[in-house]
Amino acid sequence: MTIPPETFRALAHDLTNFAADYLEKLPHLPSYPSDISGQETEHLFGGEVPLDGIGAAAFDSLPKVFENSRPASPRFFGYVFGSGEPVGVLGEFAANVLHQNATAWRSAPAAITFERTVIQWLASAVGCAGYSGSLTLGGSSANLMGLCMAREAKAPANQSGVRGGVIYCSTEAHMSISKAAALLGLGHEAVRFIAVDEAFRMQTEDLRRAIIQDLQKGELPIAVVASAGTTATGSIDPLNMIADICHEFGLWLHVDGAYGALASLAIPDAFSGLERADSLSLDPHKWLYQPTGCGCLLYRDSAAAQRAFSHSGEYARVLSDDPIEEFAFFKESMELSRPFRALKLWLSIRYYGLRAFAESIREDLRLAKVLADSIDAETRLERLAPVALSAVCFRYVGNGDVAALNRYILSRVV
Ligand SMILES: Cc1ncc(COP(=O)(O)O)c(C=O)c1O
Repeated sequence: MTIPPETFRALAHDLTNFAADYLEKLPHLPSYPSDISGQETEHLFGGEVPLDGIGAAAFDSLPKVFENSRPASPRFFGYVFGSGEPVGVLGEFAANVLHQNATAWRSAPAAITFERTVIQWLASAVGCAGYSGSLTLGGSSANLMGLCMAREAKAPANQSGVRGGVIYCSTEAHMSISKAAALLGLGHEAVRFIAVDEAFRMQTEDLRRAIIQDLQKGELPIAVVASAGTTATGSIDPLNMIADICHEFGLWLHVDGAYGALASLAIPDAFSGLERADSLSLDPHKWLYQPTGCGCLLYRDSAAAQRAFSHSGEYARVLSDDPIEEFAFFKESMELSRPFRALKLWLSIRYYGLRAFAESIREDLRLAKVLADSIDAETRLERLAPVALSAVCFRYVGNGDVAALNRYILSRVV
């Protein structure tokens, strides 16, 4: 599967122009494509597999793809999703031209060194200098890996299978926690959902009580998942108090910071205690504005990652004794083949500087406060949660079925 260099150059040139035009008009595009229906997208993009190629004409569909996508416009405030940024896009392009397999240093020397460097940068940026880690597909896979490490540390199962283990998180925790418990063979019922206070933060007294009850019943508590930014309201659990309880009962502390923890670049004090986590999920594709597919798991002890993930095959034997050259991500991750995720992040951080990211996050936080203040000043609107990060929850208070009215308003806004 090759194409002549001049064809590549011409296609890439056209695509680059198309992309630059798109980025230029992006801020003015509606937040959602209009007149879009499921049937129409099926009609446009479904169909039989082509047995014979159509060459460069394959690219003719791209404008339609863009038209039928939700623009990553700076005017769209829904979901927990970064706005993207163009240097990262170019990083993706370069990484895909290089086509590295970031399994181990010997298969991708630069990519591995870049990733380890970026991991150090991220760890220091969130106050966890010295942590190891890896870039992941997203926050869900980072949470799964963090909890896999917790299970292997506190209730080892890799050798003989799962024999119980209980995980604690708040009722506001992200669904990926429960999903991870299921995937790890612990089961949904092994997750204890601890009540939250009026600011949607985990009630630590309830946590302590739940752990004691489980111990009395002969259950095996293994980990607490604290949220550093809950999906619905951006609430930050009391990390230090939870870390104290983990310490007291010998439990693993995993912090799900997929949405919020990177905001510690801007407001570090709000995240005090993050540095006590055994493992911590971050999502550069959220609050470092990277292209989708860039999460991160950080952990205090790389030996714990190796206990969870190191299963080597003969074909994967590392031949070097050099501490840098023998490094293999597959010994500390559930992934073997891995893309060169670090290049976009490295380019992006070098291009803008970390300070620019901190300022941009600070501005996002400021905008959330502006919105919250405007809502508070408007009697027909009711704010439904404190604003800890960028999530602002509110509704219209009218007569009749308020929920139905708000659903209607939401669809009109979109
Ligand atoms: C708190 C939290 N954790 C985990 C995730 C999952 O992250 P991802 O979508 O990158 O898998 C999200 C996504 O919104 C989240 O808000």
